[in-house]
Amino acid sequence: MAQALNDLLSEWIQTAFETVFSQDVEQIGRVTVVASARPEHGDYQCNDCMRLAKVLKQAPRQIAETFVSAVEKPDCVRALEVAGPGFINISLDDQWLAEWMASLADDERLGVPRQGEGTTIVMDYGSPNITKPLHIGHLRSHNIGSALDRVHRFLGYHVVADNHLGDWGTQFGITILGYRHFGDKQKMREYPLEELERVYVKSYEKTKEDSEWLDACRQELVKLQSGDPETLALWEDFTRWSIEELERVYARLNVSFDMVRGESHYRNKLKPIVERLEAEGLTRISEGATVVDLEEEKLPLAIVRKSDGGFNYATTDLATVASRIDEFSPERIIYITDERQQLHFKQVFAICRRLGITTRLDHVWFGLMRLPDATFSTREGNVIKLESLLDKAEELALNLVRESSSDMPSEQQQDVARAVGIGAVKYADLSQNPQSLVTFTWEKALALDGNSGPYLQYAYARIASVNDKYKVQFPETDPSAYPLQFTESIERALAIKILRFSESVILAADSYKPSALTDYLYELAQMYSTFYQNVPFLKAPEGVRESRVRLCGLVARVLKQGLDLLGLETPERI
Ligand code: ARG
Repeated sequence: MAQALNDLLSEWIQTAFETVFSQDVEQIGRVTVVASARPEHGDYQCNDCMRLAKVLKQAPRQIAETFVSAVEKPDCVRALEVAGPGFINISLDDQWLAEWMASLADDERLGVPRQGEGTTIVMDYGSPNITKPLHIGHLRSHNIGSALDRVHRFLGYHVVADNHLGDWGTQFGITILGYRHFGDKQKMREYPLEELERVYVKSYEKTKEDSEWLDACRQELVKLQSGDPETLALWEDFTRWSIEELERVYARLNVSFDMVRGESHYRNKLKPIVERLEAEGLTRISEGATVVDLEEEKLPLAIVRKSDGGFNYATTDLATVASRIDEFSPERIIYITDERQQLHFKQVFAICRRLGITTRLDHVWFGLMRLPDATFSTREGNVIKLESLLDKAEELALNLVRESSSDMPSEQQQDVARAVGIGAVKYADLSQNPQSLVTFTWEKALALDGNSGPYLQYAYARIASVNDKYKVQFPETDPSAYPLQFTESIERALAIKILRFSESVILAADSYKPSALTDYLYELAQMYSTFYQNVPFLKAPEGVRESRVRLCGLVARVLKQGLDLLGLETPERI
């Protein structure tokens, strides 16, 4: 199965239109199908006759009728029907569906094509500024980034995931001086990041009232950036502690990267990139700073070298793009950050264009995640540590699991609670359109009857148990020896939904919206529960029963694969 169903049908209908209207082939343009929202409109429909009316100078309905009566139906289509002002409703052939389903069942990829084979993509996500603990604001870049990473990898793309740590910025001057004056060695060993953050905050406060202190901080940064060994050694310690801590949280979140390079990796490439800009005649000096005008792009000018000679965030990103292109020749570089960086990336991308860089550069931005007040009490003031959120999630999930599986050994309960709790947090984020502001609530994240991670994890576990029951009652039969059949319309609908898994994976990747996949999985689980409640299973006659068990097994596999692509675990029992 090299293709998703909608693509297969779209390809067919495109050629079919060009054949039927061969005298107007130039005017036809792109003809596609979309899944029908209602069963009475067929399984898929084509809505292009409205658009074609203008170019073919005929009424849409007439075009549809001409098409339907002239076209030769392919094997997969049972019926074509004209509806309303000129829709073409397409019903798939049952026999063909059953065969396609059977090949899907034999395919470990569940029909998802490797559309990205041979294409390299660099993904830049996570990318926190180090020397402070992760807070809840860091969740979305890691989580959305990781889901998009997994989805692209599954589609066969060669993904290079780079955690572009902020490890070379101005915060270091402030932190280093703070450390020298207020650092507590003992605490630094026990809770390095909390302690580093504490000295940072204290030192930062002092910069505001004490200009000598501010100068001294700048001196520390200059020392660091010019390679003073003692300062560099401190920086190395800070970086190591930070990465160790990050890795611990990443393990909990099940997020991983191919490389963790950080801004410092590019420190020797900053001067050359500015020289390249200068050589291309793209810069001018403004108040002592080197800037690139971006008026043509209707963007404010970008500073690439500050008046004190230092380089900034934009310089680093320009050097990073150039370096990534040299090293990986990617087709695309994708950045996943919050919405506040939109202007920054517009400027960086515009400058790249000016440099003649043609690599596709995409900024996937997301809205902030908010917590309704009083959900957490925090010792850290108004910044809530990401780990506190995860702890709380696991704790609440443990209550759920203790209720649903009181007989489970306590260690297993904890494992399951970990999967459900972390899954709940991740899913609550991923199920939103990334570009919206998310208000996180525990009720929604942990709801067992709504579009939530736990709902889908429970659904998976329940389906797995249906299979177990079947095996107990019919230990000798192998359901896969029986053909799939669609006796009831809900079975047919469920089968088509299963076939559409690949469409949703592709949509999630192409639109950079993990929510396309969460929506699909939620609808699948709901459809499954309608199916399960309305048709007999183990009591159905032989053959029908096996077909149903097979469908059920496929739903379970799709849920497991889909949740895995989102970075959620699927315990067999909850
Ligand atoms: N460190 C930055 C921050 O915390 C995000 C970096 C995003 N990636 C990049 N290449 N600029 O805001």
